[in-house]
Amino acid sequence: MAHSGAPSPTQPLSHPRVLHLFRSLHTPPVVLSCPGVCIRPFRTQELDAYLALFGRAFRGLKPPVRPWDRRDFHRQMTARPWWSPENCLLAWSNRPCRPRLLGSVTLVVLPGSEPRQGAVHWLMVAPEFRRRGLARVLLSHLEQRAWDQGVRLLRVETHACWHAAVAFYRRCGYRTRQ
Ligand SMILES: CC(C)(COP(=O)(O)OP(=O)(O)OC[C@H]1O[C@@H](n2cnc3c(N)ncnc32)[C@H](O)[C@@H]1OP(=O)(O)O)[C@@H](O)C(=O)NCCC(=O)NCCS
Repeated sequence: MAHSGAPSPTQPLSHPRVLHLFRSLHTPPVVLSCPGVCIRPFRTQELDAYLALFGRAFRGLKPPVRPWDRRDFHRQMTARPWWSPENCLLAWSNRPCRPRLLGSVTLVVLPGSEPRQGAVHWLMVAPEFRRRGLARVLLSHLEQRAWDQGVRLLRVETHACWHAAVAFYRRCGYRTRQ
């Protein structure tokens, strides 16, 4: 994910607590599913639901990520050269009576990279839906999209203090490059 926590006054400018993790895709990824959950691309009319989820999912992290408004979403997503709504995946609860946005992740295909490289941005799961495998499902869909677009190396930027995220990515095979 793109990191937006401010460095502390004692932190050197090289941001040593930002962690870069990588995973090579050697074979087509296995796509996972979660009962009662549908994964599909972002639609413009879902922006408010996305922003509400973002505010809840990143609340309380240290270093903090402040909530986004529509302008932030434009700056961080739609204004970027890599933006494609097809690569911004949303996990919706399937219950027809009460659809709920449960999670999201965005694939960035780095422009001009050869061989093609991708990045995992803004992975999030609603606090009440964590530890049920949803992030793993989202990541599997992202990896399949990456594979289909010719990406064979994925990277993610996270923060060493974000223990859930670090544990999650390590569990999914993402490693620091030697
Ligand atoms: C990181 C995050 C996306 C994980 O979502 P999740 O749906 O709970 O993750 P999963 O249930 O798919 O977890 C898969 C595995 O990752 C590891 N893992 C996930 N959360 C963990 C935690 N809090 N502590 C330790 N291991 C964890 C476990 O090995 C887990 O498997 P298990 O539950 O069978 O032990 C979620 O905690 C979140 O939204 N955090 C806030 C936002 C954030 O930090 N995003 C990442 C930015 S880079």
